Amino acid sequence: MSKNKFVIANWKMNLNPQQSVSLAKELKKLLEKEDWSDKIVVLCPSFLAISEVAKVLRDSNIALGAQDVFYEEEGAFTGEVSPENLKELNCQYVIVGHSERRAMGENDELVAKKAAAVAQHNMTPIICVGESLEERDSSLTGQVLQRQVSQALKFIEEDNYFIIAYEPVWAISTSGSGQSITAPEASKMIDIIRQAVPNKLKNFDIIYGGSVKDDTVTDFTKDFKGALVGGASLKADIFYQLIKNA
Ligand code: PGA
Repeated sequence: MSKNKFVIANWKMNLNPQQSVSLAKELKKLLEKEDWSDKIVVLCPSFLAISEVAKVLRDSNIALGAQDVFYEEEGAFTGEVSPENLKELNCQYVIVGHSERRAMGENDELVAKKAAAVAQHNMTPIICVGESLEERDSSLTGQVLQRQVSQALKFIEEDNYFIIAYEPVWAISTSGSGQSITAPEASKMIDIIRQAVPNKLKNFDIIYGGSVKDDTVTDFTKDFKGALVGGASLKADIFYQLIKNA
């Protein structure tokens, strides 16, 4: 478990390589001025931008993450990216099972294989779980979280460290629901998630994601070990403020 709070930027498919490098440079400059030893800041650029952003972040106090990965080492897997290659770039964190990928057909089995591959390569999987609005309205939240968490951890070993990001799908800023979860409501989910983690696995943290902004981040970082941030991570000044407040 980490002593520090995570602030993890998921840039999704929003920035081209040039914009990604500029934003990484701006953040590096802002963050190098102060001591951030109580926070772990991670940037997850697109695959197209990741090697250039990796160069910017080398010798900085910002860690590199990826938005996805494949579970095989190498071979005939058109369009995929191996954990080995990410590791070579100095990538330390990898998001797996984001709801936007699950919506494209990624299932629990695939998420489990990816999470294990990341951990086996000594990187930290950030495993995203969360219910849809329909599931929430049908009171299925507990059941969905239970299934997603236990399935995703199927191949994780006792000494592996991992992060679970609770992201209610309907609370993600681009979901179009216009709704967001209250902090106490989100905190209740921590218990459900904890109970779904097999007893033998002790080394993990739970963070929150879904419309986290600079002025709401503290609502969530009281109970959660940090935040996964989409929209509010795309502008240096706003994200910097969010990191400060976290
Ligand atoms: P958001 O995205 O902060 O824009 O809601 C979070 C995420 O999808 O990881």
